[in-house]
Amino acid sequence: MELPQRELAVLEAASADEPTTVAELASATGEKPETVTGAAFELEERGFVTVSEETVADAELTEEGEQYLADGLPELRLYEAAREAGADDDPVGMGEVLGSAGLEGPEVDIALSNYARKGYGSIDSGDLVANPDADPEADEEAAALAAVANGEPIDADVREALERRDLVVVHERTVRSVTLTDDGVDALMAGVTATEAVGQLTPEMLASGEWADVEFADYNVEADAETPSSGKTHVLRATAERVKDVLVGMGFEEMEGPHADSEFWINDALFMPQDHPARTHWDQFALSEPSEVDDLPEDLLERVESAHREGVGQDGDGYHSPWTEEMARGVDLRGHTTSLSMRYLSGEAVGDLEPPQRYFSVEKVYRNDTLDATHLLEFFQIEGWVMAEDLSVRDLMGTFTEFYSQFGIEDIRFKPHYNPYTEPSFELFGTHPRTGEVIEIGNSGLFRPEVLEPLGVDCDVMAWGLALERLLMLTHGFEDIRDVHGTLADIDFLRDTEVVY
Ligand code: PHE
Repeated sequence: MELPQRELAVLEAASADEPTTVAELASATGEKPETVTGAAFELEERGFVTVSEETVADAELTEEGEQYLADGLPELRLYEAAREAGADDDPVGMGEVLGSAGLEGPEVDIALSNYARKGYGSIDSGDLVANPDADPEADEEAAALAAVANGEPIDADVREALERRDLVVVHERTVRSVTLTDDGVDALMAGVTATEAVGQLTPEMLASGEWADVEFADYNVEADAETPSSGKTHVLRATAERVKDVLVGMGFEEMEGPHADSEFWINDALFMPQDHPARTHWDQFALSEPSEVDDLPEDLLERVESAHREGVGQDGDGYHSPWTEEMARGVDLRGHTTSLSMRYLSGEAVGDLEPPQRYFSVEKVYRNDTLDATHLLEFFQIEGWVMAEDLSVRDLMGTFTEFYSQFGIEDIRFKPHYNPYTEPSFELFGTHPRTGEVIEIGNSGLFRPEVLEPLGVDCDVMAWGLALERLLMLTHGFEDIRDVHGTLADIDFLRDTEVVY
């Protein structure tokens, strides 16, 4: 009987007594694993072998896991220090033990919670007691860390515990094994030879007509193959699209407008005094060409100038600081997209608007910041505003709560803040899922009369600017904005992350 070469090789390398894995067969036959898998399935179809499948979980230490492997688990270090301090006789003050164990920062909480959980002792109002019967040598988690480092298998429950502690990450893979059937054994006994199967059709074979006589190897569409990495939408762009969907779902319409704009729309219309530090070249990028714009609405320009000089309403007072039209006509890269909100609220963009109205944009802004883990020269702002009669801080908070909950973020916090253009104003904070740190994610408020009156708006407007990158930090847990932007971007993170909310 004849079999294609690769099938024959697998048949000869397999055993009837015990399953042989594809990896073992690959090294025995010198074929690639995917070739062996293909041959195994073909042999199975002929009834010569059975192919079994098993899912294997491989654990790998995280950075934190590596660190504890080197330094010892925090709870074990705590236990050792507690024993040394005599805590199995009398309770010892916690501060003392933590100090001699060299535990600080987030390790303290980790040590304390696992200490009690794993029976190393108890904690009672600031005192530590050590259980004299506990055996740190027998700590399963410590042993498992070492086993993982050596590539040895570990118990599934312990692996899950380590995974919950973020000390290991687990990758699952399918392992296939091949066992000879009785028919397979019989076939081998009767004698099998290799047929020359042709894998690749060549121009020569076509020209000579040889193609008509040869046997072609079958394609196996089930064989394991490499996953090619191809182009895909950047996570930040995908998140921006999702943000747009959520806001449209909440009844908002999208704004658009220029990236380089007059200082008038970026700052003056927002009642930003012309001598405000944020209006210097330390903070914003100015254009030299064109260096000014000439198409500003004259009557609005006058009303804004008057708000700056004299204020609005009966108690208004203005700034009494210098104000020049020349400065208002200067051109900058917008430092926020609130310039778009001004263009829309003034009627300049789409004509006069009657309440109620809701608008948003998810667009790039530019700031002359110092580059670090949370700052770049450009980032995406989620701008938005709601125009309606009688808005309050509750409406503002309710809108954010609804918006962020669409991304699974339920613990938004608010802090009173100051903006020249809103009163009251609030900064928004969220909790970083990895570090537990509270990070700023946005800024908001209700526009002041000094902003709204010159624009001709006579009802309330609440507004905000949220950072898209910070939203992504909360949903995906990365810590450095440079992981997603620019030359230091983490390509694997960008490639492997699917944006699903
Ligand atoms: N422009 C503010 C910023 O960039 C955000 C904001 C917009 C705050 C509208 C209040 C109202 O931080």
